[in-house]
Amino acid sequence: MDVLLIGSGGREHSIAWKLAQSKNLGKLYIAPGNAGTAQCGENVPIGANDIEKLVDFAKQNDVGLVVVGPEDPLAAGIVDAFEAAGVKAFGPGAGAAQLEADKAFAKQLMRSSAISTAEGRIFERFKDAKAYIASRDEAVVVKAAGLAKGKGVYVCDDPADGILAAEKIMCDKIFGQAGEKIIVEDKLLGEEVSILAFVDGRNIYLMESSQDHKPIGDGDTGPNTGGMGAYSPAPVVTEPLMDKITREILVPVVDGMNRNGTPYRGVMYAGLMITGGGPRVLEFNVRFGDPETQPILMRLKSDLLEVCLAVCDGKLDQVTLEWDRRPAVCVVMASGGYPGAYEKGKRITGVEEAEQLKDVVVFHAGTRSQDGDLVTNGGRVLGVTALGEQIADAKARAYKAVDKIKFEGAYCRGDIADKAIRK
Ligand code: AMP
Ligand code: GLY
Repeated sequence: MDVLLIGSGGREHSIAWKLAQSKNLGKLYIAPGNAGTAQCGENVPIGANDIEKLVDFAKQNDVGLVVVGPEDPLAAGIVDAFEAAGVKAFGPGAGAAQLEADKAFAKQLMRSSAISTAEGRIFERFKDAKAYIASRDEAVVVKAAGLAKGKGVYVCDDPADGILAAEKIMCDKIFGQAGEKIIVEDKLLGEEVSILAFVDGRNIYLMESSQDHKPIGDGDTGPNTGGMGAYSPAPVVTEPLMDKITREILVPVVDGMNRNGTPYRGVMYAGLMITGGGPRVLEFNVRFGDPETQPILMRLKSDLLEVCLAVCDGKLDQVTLEWDRRPAVCVVMASGGYPGAYEKGKRITGVEEAEQLKDVVVFHAGTRSQDGDLVTNGGRVLGVTALGEQIADAKARAYKAVDKIKFEGAYCRGDIADKAIRK
């Protein structure tokens, strides 16, 4: 079967790498892809949000399955468009994608499904938000309700900063329409984890746990990024905790989506805070996480294409996921200056040498080929991922590979997975 994968990040390279191992894969197309995905299939120069052209391409090329990586096209209804054209597509439709694209919708769904989350209020007018935050006199978290490329959340220890954040979002409109509504919620304390599951509308199949590292600096300092590294599994998630998360969060949200008339199909990503009082939801995403997918898929032994088809066909109860028991660690190498301004076009060397190390895969994110050279083409450039007997071995191997790769201004955190090693 020929497959079209949509997106161009590290997540998409890891999905392409895994799909390419499937025994039933014919041709793999990636739109638009990066220099890494070009090694797994054929890159197609159509943007991830150009729905009409993507549908035409899929029809003309007899694509049997489309796999959608990023949230923007999902929220814009790309899966509905493929289905209307008779093409099978993996991911939620626009109605179900609201779970990520509208945090007010997600908050209300959690409330009506009795899912534990931070206490929060939704505001449509700055005046009301300001009065509420001023009355709180404690730390608040201010969130743009819409999609803001992972940058729409401000954790404010001082309420005055909370008011400034609300002003930037609602009055200065720094996220445009995505900031027409905001959520103001209590700050939760604890350890964060990402729980990803395949969902076919009815059945839920959890993947192995993982943990992201959002801030740019070691020790979780500095501004948030798309994610600077990840590991899987997350030792904080014990088996009883995983059961509790399934029972009290995933089952109710899937039921709630059905009751709402927006049945959920695809990958469900629950961003959780493990607090003293149990797991509570920070957010839902409607897709694979980036960079969590890199270590997770390195550990998946089963055929990803078969699982994606089972999700689309409502037959998830007929597949079994098998995992490599060894942990995996992914270290993101970024362009100097990221998450602020950075330059592109820097020549990258040493990737092949790094990949000669045992159980190492270098997933590309912001890369492209230029006159036979590999050059940087984004903020997050590479996700250097390794398996190891223990998490410390996986970390050591990933950093050994990182040391072999050079480009001007290259930056990575030095403490990825330390939290897990301390456990
Ligand atoms: P979100 O996009 O909603 O996951 O928020 C991005 C990041 O902000 C999360 O990964 C957390 O680190 C942090 N965050 C969001 N909501 C809260 C909260 N209620 N309490 C503490 N931290 C939060
Ligand atoms: N790693 C966070 C995300 O994918 O949203």
